Amino acid sequence: MSQKSKHDAWNAGEAYDAYMGRWSRRIAEDFLAWLNPDPGLGWLDVGCGTGALTEIILRRAAPRSVRAVDPSDGFVSYAAANILDPRVKFRAGSATALPFDSGRFEALASGLVLNFIDNQRAALREFCRVLEPGGLLSFYVWDYPGGGMGVIDTFWAAARALDPGAAELDESRRFPGCTKDGLAALCAGAGLAGAEVTALETTSDFPDFVTFWAPFTLGAGPAPGYCKSLPPERQAALKDELRRRLGSGPISLPARAWAVKARIPG
Ligand SMILES: C[S@@+](CC[C@H](N)C(=O)[O-])C[C@H]1O[C@@H](n2cnc3c(N)ncnc32)[C@H](O)[C@@H]1O
Repeated sequence: MSQKSKHDAWNAGEAYDAYMGRWSRRIAEDFLAWLNPDPGLGWLDVGCGTGALTEIILRRAAPRSVRAVDPSDGFVSYAAANILDPRVKFRAGSATALPFDSGRFEALASGLVLNFIDNQRAALREFCRVLEPGGLLSFYVWDYPGGGMGVIDTFWAAARALDPGAAELDESRRFPGCTKDGLAALCAGAGLAGAEVTALETTSDFPDFVTFWAPFTLGAGPAPGYCKSLPPERQAALKDELRRRLGSGPISLPARAWAVKARIPG
């Protein structure tokens, strides 16, 4: 499912929030509503980024405690500076080598992360390891192959029209495993045969084209990373192509994620 790109720039918290944080917060709300977890659990948020999902867990799941990890020091610092709830602690850490004892958590969630990890089986093994028997394992990813993240899909369609080389950076091509069947198979391979996979649907809405375009110039995330790497005249041409496709606004695009939940056997 994963394939690295030099444009996977995860570091600038504010830029990421302007680009994806708004939509990841909205999908995190829907995810927690679907998950409907028991209150009072000890949670781990893997790949917390700027803390979009962490905040929603704190607000909606009545957790006893939340630990949140991300390999990006910049994101961890940003999240720790902005989310001051005494129940939460942030630290650097990777999904494939979680810095926690086995059986330490009752619930684990990971939002929009798994496709960026090289070895997803190893990550799922780690998720299972740090959860207690019967613990709740959950995650979600955008439906990239199904055009489920309209903002990203529209961006790459315009980029491909101007630069055929952009095709290999398009997340719909890089992450073919982000489908209902792909995720069910991944879970079955990790011994989570009873995993439930469902679609979460929302929209990404922009009052005008200027608001849609601005985050792409900031460089945080694969599409903005590509956009920022272009020389000024090519960036201007890409902006014109997107405006031609979308109009001056308002703009409303689909945002669909695949959400997964499973219980640790035992
Ligand atoms: C699209 S962001 C999602 C952030 C946040 N969970 C959200 O919902 O907004 C992807 C995140 O995955 C993180 N990431 C990339 N590789 C990772 C790994 N091996 N382990 C854990 N997180 C990783 C990135 O640093 C980034 O914060």
